[in-house]
Order: sequence, then C-alpha cells, then structure tokens
Amino acid sequence: MAKLTPKALNKKPLNPLLSTPILVYLALILSLLLILFLSQQHLSQFSFPFSSPDANDLTLFRRATTHTTTHIFTLIKPKPKIAFLFLTNSNLTFAPLWEKFFVGNNHLFNIYVHADPTTYVASPGGVFQNRFIPSKPTKRYSPSLIAAARRLLASALLDDPLNQYFALISQRCIPLFSFQFIYNYLFKNQLKSFANSSEFNLLYPSYIEILSEAENLNIRYNARGENVMMPEVPFEDFRVGSQFFILNRKHTKVVLRDQKLWNKFQIPCTNKYYCYPEEHYFSTLLSMEDLKGCTGFTLTRVNWTGAVYGHPHLYTPAEVSPELFRQLRVSNWSYSYLFARKFSPECLAPLMNIADDVIFRD
Ligand SMILES: *[C@@H]1O[C@H](CO)[C@@H](O)[C@H](O)[C@H]1NC(C)=O
Ligand SMILES: *[C@@H]1O[C@H](CO)[C@@H](O)[C@H](O)[C@H]1NC(C)=O
Ligand SMILES: *[C@@H]1O[C@H](CO)[C@@H](O)[C@H](O)[C@H]1NC(C)=O
Ligand SMILES: *[C@@H]1O[C@H](CO)[C@@H](O)[C@H](O)[C@H]1NC(C)=O
Repeated sequence: MAKLTPKALNKKPLNPLLSTPILVYLALILSLLLILFLSQQHLSQFSFPFSSPDANDLTLFRRATTHTTTHIFTLIKPKPKIAFLFLTNSNLTFAPLWEKFFVGNNHLFNIYVHADPTTYVASPGGVFQNRFIPSKPTKRYSPSLIAAARRLLASALLDDPLNQYFALISQRCIPLFSFQFIYNYLFKNQLKSFANSSEFNLLYPSYIEILSEAENLNIRYNARGENVMMPEVPFEDFRVGSQFFILNRKHTKVVLRDQKLWNKFQIPCTNKYYCYPEEHYFSTLLSMEDLKGCTGFTLTRVNWTGAVYGHPHLYTPAEVSPELFRQLRVSNWSYSYLFARKFSPECLAPLMNIADDVIFRD
C-alpha cells in the first residue's frame, strides 16, 4: 500500500479551475440551464389546453393574467408568433385553404379553436389536430360570444409566451394574402425594438375597430335597460366595432384582467333586436384603457352592403374571382385588409382553385 506522502499530494493540479469538482459543478450548471431553456420551450405544450371542460372561466382568466414568463428570450431572440383564434359553431369548411396558408410556417403561429359544444363540429385534423380548447355554447344576442373570445385569448396567452398577436377568426373568414405577407405586415416595424426590449410586445398596435358614432348606438347602449350601464360605462364612452380583431399581448391581458366592464356586458339584454355585446365590449374597453395603443380599424373586411338582420353579405361561388380579391384587399385608409368574411361553404372549391395564383401570390 502506497503511503500518501506530501509529495504524492502535490501531484494534484495546482490550478483549482481545472480540478474535477469544479468541472462537475460547471457541467451541472450548464445542464440546469439547458433544462430550463428546454422546459421554457416545451412545458406549456404538455399541459395544453389547461383546464377541464367544466373548469371555471374566472380561474382560467386569472391564471392567464398572473402567469409570468422568464425573459430568457432576450438572449436567444426567437421570432414572435401569431395566435389564430377560430371561433366557430359549425365545421371548419375552409380548413383546407387555411392548411395551405399555414404550410411551411410552423414556428410562427399557433391555432386555437373554440367550437360550440351544442353542434357537432368535426376536427379537420392537420394543423387543427388537438387545437380545440374547452368550450361552452355560444348564442347570438347574448354575451356568450364575448366569453368564448375571452376563453380563446386566455388559452393562447397561457399556452405560448411567444404568441404576440391574437387574431380572432370566424368559420366563414378567409385570408386575403399569404402567411408571410400577413406576418411581415404585422411585425414589420416592430422587430427592431424587439431586439433590446424584454417586454417586446408593447410597441405593436392592436387592430380593432373603434367607432363612437353609429346608427342606433343609443338604443344598443340601452339594450339592457335605461341607465343599466352606469356608472361604469357612460354613453360618451360607449363604442362599437367589428367583432373580429387582432390584439397585441398587452391588450389581451387588459381584456382578461377586466372585471368591471365584463360584469356590465354580461347582463342579459331586454331588447334583443339591438343586442350585439361582442361588437361593443372590446372596442369600449380598449378605447377606455389604451386608445392610443389601438389603430381604431379592423383588418378583416366585411361587406355590409344590403345586409339583412345583422348578417353581412355572404359571398357565393359565382362571386369568387381574382377581381374580387383585388377589391377586398383595398381599404379607404393607408392599410390593406388581411382577412375577409363571410364566404358560403360552397366557395371552398373555387377558393382552392385560385389559392396559389391569386390569394397567396402577394
Ligand atoms: C360536421 O361534419 C361531420 C362529418 O364530418 C358531420 O357529421 C356533422 O354533422 C357536421 N356538423 C355540422 C354542424 O354541420
Ligand atoms: C435599442 O437599442 C438601440 C441601440 O442600442 C437604441 O438606439 C434604441 O433606442 C433601443 N430601442 C429601445 C426600444 O430601447
Ligand atoms: C358587396 O355586396 C353587394 C351585394 O350585397 C355586392 O353587389 C357587391 O359587389 C359587394 N362588394 C364587394 C366589394 O364585394
Ligand atoms: C370607401 O368609401 C366609400 C365612400 O365613402 C364607401 O362607399 C366605401 O364603402 C368605402 N370602402 C371601404 C372598403 O371602406
């Protein structure tokens, strides 16, 4: 047995940085960082969609707004994503068109579907596979469409911290451009500030229509009874706008934190003919909370010419043409429309025919 003489001990490296325990610690720290990074990327996917069907909405909204994310992104600079929120009470007839739209852009979007459970909505599979969130029935002339939109916003907020834009889409809605065009359109001027900002959402505007004048606005304001909206929502603050919007992350949190206005808009209407809560709630809330963070217009085109009973023009296969797409994209303002509604289910075939040559050719 060799004796441990002082000479033998001296054979150990003198530089403490090269000694084994230090290397082990370094390796440990590196693997911990790696685990942290990987879990940040993937953890949320495992728990989607976050709640059982009978879970309380309030719990979901609270979780979504108190959920915090680490700022590890500032180091690795991943690209922000668009959350597409499909609100539907029928089959997603245009799924093949959307599938074509999304192909090749997997790392830049997420899909969430709120399908009314009282009608049987089949999953189209593909990019829509397993993207259905726990849903509740929706009805016109009731606040249920607001609740459904809030459920979609909450699920997308919780699911992926890279979701920076939240676009509400209906089953009769289609894209007017390619995915890359729409993505660049939304993020074009903001990516520079994204590079050195940890809260990289703050500079993206929300695209939501906010109008202070409209026919019968006063009757709509009193649809729950005279003065019922007071004092939280005086008539001067009551706004109207399209139900379909694209909100940034900051405004999505504003919506989910709101309890004050939501309490008012949840009151059932006494005058159902003037009851369109989903056309007022989001515009009114965001104009009160952060008007200058909103563009005031929507990017979803809808044709109200000859509308009957609150239903806009429904495009038929005979109307689908390259010329229609040129018209639909043009707006009176300094922007382009990115989406359009409403298209009848029979339009799928003619839309697919012109998809590559017209719709997705920018
Ligand atoms: C959706 O499609 C399925 C067949 O894939 C059909 O059985 C069902 O009735 C459809 N639902 C609606 C609401 O049309
Ligand atoms: C980002 O950094 C650049 C240069 O370092 C600076 O000019 C710019 O103002 C910064 N932007 C923000 C939003 O802080
Ligand atoms: C809007 O709908 C009307 C019919 O209600 C139709 O005549 C017109 O061409 C449509 N406009 C566009 C731009 O599609
Ligand atoms: C543009 O303005 C004209 C006249 O004000 C109006 O008739 C038309 O519907 C508007 N088009 C759109 C796309 O807003």
